[in-house]
Amino acid sequence: MPEKPVILETQKLSKTYRLGNEDVRALRDVDLKIRENDYAVILGASGSGKSTLMHILGFMDTPTSGKIIFDGADVSRISSNKRAWYRSNRIGFVFQTFNLLPRLSVLKNVMLPFSYSREKIENPEGRAREALEKVGMLHRQNHVPNQLSGGERQRVSIARALVNRPRVIFADEPTGALDVKNVKKVLELFDELVRGGQTIVMVTHDLGVANCAHRIIRMSDGAIIEDALTQKGMAAQ
Ligand SMILES: Nc1ncnc2c1ncn2[C@@H]1O[C@H](COP(=O)(O)OP(=O)(O)O)[C@@H](O)[C@H]1O
Ligand SMILES: [Mg+2]
Repeated sequence: MPEKPVILETQKLSKTYRLGNEDVRALRDVDLKIRENDYAVILGASGSGKSTLMHILGFMDTPTSGKIIFDGADVSRISSNKRAWYRSNRIGFVFQTFNLLPRLSVLKNVMLPFSYSREKIENPEGRAREALEKVGMLHRQNHVPNQLSGGERQRVSIARALVNRPRVIFADEPTGALDVKNVKKVLELFDELVRGGQTIVMVTHDLGVANCAHRIIRMSDGAIIEDALTQKGMAAQ
């Protein structure tokens, strides 16, 4: 089978934080390719650099050195305005603690990415309802976040990540704050999105969660130490 097109590539991506007089090397020469419809997990112990990598790939932070290519364009050194454009038009981000705005309804929370986008969106409410429908939360569109369970909040935040029809969804420990039942629900939802063609990159430190993806990228001390398909990934090929 021919390989799918590459969405995202990093070359010798490195990030060093300066803490007082000390350098913390959070990423060391990371080479990575994410292809269309990948369902990849970044797995590693706490402090191994997973969030740093996700924040850089998600246009929320910039590398110290190395290259990032997104849909064929070199985005390693783009301005913060351009990064904001990528965030609101090309990717979706899911956080461990949901990051929903407490005063806004579920529907308005899902519409938020449109307010950051300078482009005119046709029928924004309809698009938001469509995203809520996908995650099974349309019946809660008029609730506010604190009227929902943790699992429901995470599904709303996934709807918010989907609303701009992103090329990639990045999820940093999306199941970390959920109980077993809701972990299962979120993973089932990701499965369904991947079957529908979505590309997902998820961070976890939980091997059980990682094995639900198609590919596991293992990190240790800021470097990739292994990158392999899971049994599910092999079956899906
Ligand atoms: N803003 C920061 N300033 C200084 N050091 C940081 C900062 N963010 C993360 N680090 C350090 O970088 C390393 C990687 O952190 P992180 O990417 O958050 O790891 P993970 O998500 O795998 O737990 C850790 O040693 C952490 O302490
Ligand atoms: Mg982290």
